[in-house]
Amino acid sequence: MTEPAIPTVDLLHLHGTSSEQREALEAIRVGYGHYGLVYVKNHLVSDVAALYDRFQAFCDRPLADKQTYNRGDLWYQRGWTPPNTEKAVVAGGQPDFKECWFAAPEHLDPELVAQYPEVCADNVWPSGDDAFPSLYTKAGHELHVAGLALLKGAARALELPEDAFTARCVGGPHIFRMLRYLPLNEAQTRQDILWGEEHTDFNLLTLLPGGRFHDPSGAVAKAPDDGSGLYLRTRPTKEHPEGQRVRGTAPAGCIVSQVGQQLEILTGGTFLATPHVITAPTTPGWSRLSAAHFVHLHSHQMLFPLERFRTAETVRAYSPPVLAGTYGIKTLVDIGLAPSAALDKLGYRHYDRLASIRQREDGTR
Ligand SMILES: [Fe+2]
Repeated sequence: MTEPAIPTVDLLHLHGTSSEQREALEAIRVGYGHYGLVYVKNHLVSDVAALYDRFQAFCDRPLADKQTYNRGDLWYQRGWTPPNTEKAVVAGGQPDFKECWFAAPEHLDPELVAQYPEVCADNVWPSGDDAFPSLYTKAGHELHVAGLALLKGAARALELPEDAFTARCVGGPHIFRMLRYLPLNEAQTRQDILWGEEHTDFNLLTLLPGGRFHDPSGAVAKAPDDGSGLYLRTRPTKEHPEGQRVRGTAPAGCIVSQVGQQLEILTGGTFLATPHVITAPTTPGWSRLSAAHFVHLHSHQMLFPLERFRTAETVRAYSPPVLAGTYGIKTLVDIGLAPSAALDKLGYRHYDRLASIRQREDGTR
C-alpha cells in the first residue's frame, strides 16, 4: 500500500463553498490524525527573511556577548539558549546541535505572569538592534493567527464547537522560537549526528514558517544535499507497527503545522503528536535557520481527554489529569531547560512553615 501524501489545508477553504470546507476539514482529519502534520496554504504569514537576517546577525556576535542573554534563570524561556542545552528525552538525551532565541509574541494573561514567573517572563531583546523585536513579534503573531484558524478547523473536523480549542488557549504562554542549527565538521557528518533528536512537541499546535540554509561562507543557499530536513514518524499501523518515516518538506508558499502533546491528550489520541527529527546535511560547514511558533493551552486548563474522547483506554493512557501549567514545568525539566528543583516546588508546600513553627516551639521549651 502506498502512503497518501501529507495533506495541504487551504485556510481560505475553511470558509469557502461547502465542498471546499469539506475538503479542508478532511485534510485536517487525515493530516493531524495520521501524520500529526499538515501543510498550510493561504496562511497570510509574511516572509520571514528579514527576521532571519537579524537572527543570523545576533548569532554572529561574540560568545561573551551572547552569554549576557543566556537566561538559565528563566529556564531559557526568554533570550538565548546556548548549544548543548536542550535534549530529547526518548532519543537518549543527546543534546541538540542548535542555538535558539525565545520570546512571547502575544499578550499573556497577567495572572499567569504572577504564577509562572519563568515561563511568562517579560521578553528580552538583543541590544543595538531596534528592528529585531518588531520583526520577531510580527512573525510570531501572524503564525499565531494562522494557528488559531487551524485550531478552529480542527475542532470542526472533530465535530466539536468551533472554539473548543481556541477558547482554551486565550492568554496562554504561547512562545515563538528562532533556531540556528550549527555547522558540522567533516568527522561529525560521518557520525550520524542529528541537528534535532526525535521528539514530540509538548504544546497544543506548532507552526513552522520554513527555514533556510547558509553555506560555509555564510551566504544563504539551497540545501547542499538531500540529507537534511524534517522527517516525521506516522501513526503506527498493522502494516507499519513502528510508523513510517516521511519527509516533511512543505510545498512552495506553504507553512507547516504540527500537532503537540496537548492536542493529542485533549482528543484522546485521535490527533497525533508526531515524533519528528531534524537531520543534518552530509556536507560539512552548512548551517540552517528555522523558526517555530508554539500555541499553548492556558496554564489553568486540565490536560485530559475531552468528554467526547473518554474511553477506558484513553482514560488509562492519559491519566492522571494534570494542569497544563504543571505539565509544562514537568516537560521543561525533562528536556533539560528547567532545573529538577522546579518540580520539588510545585504547588503550596506546608513543610517549611510547620518546621519553623516547631523550631519556635523547641526554643520556648
Ligand atoms: Fe519539535
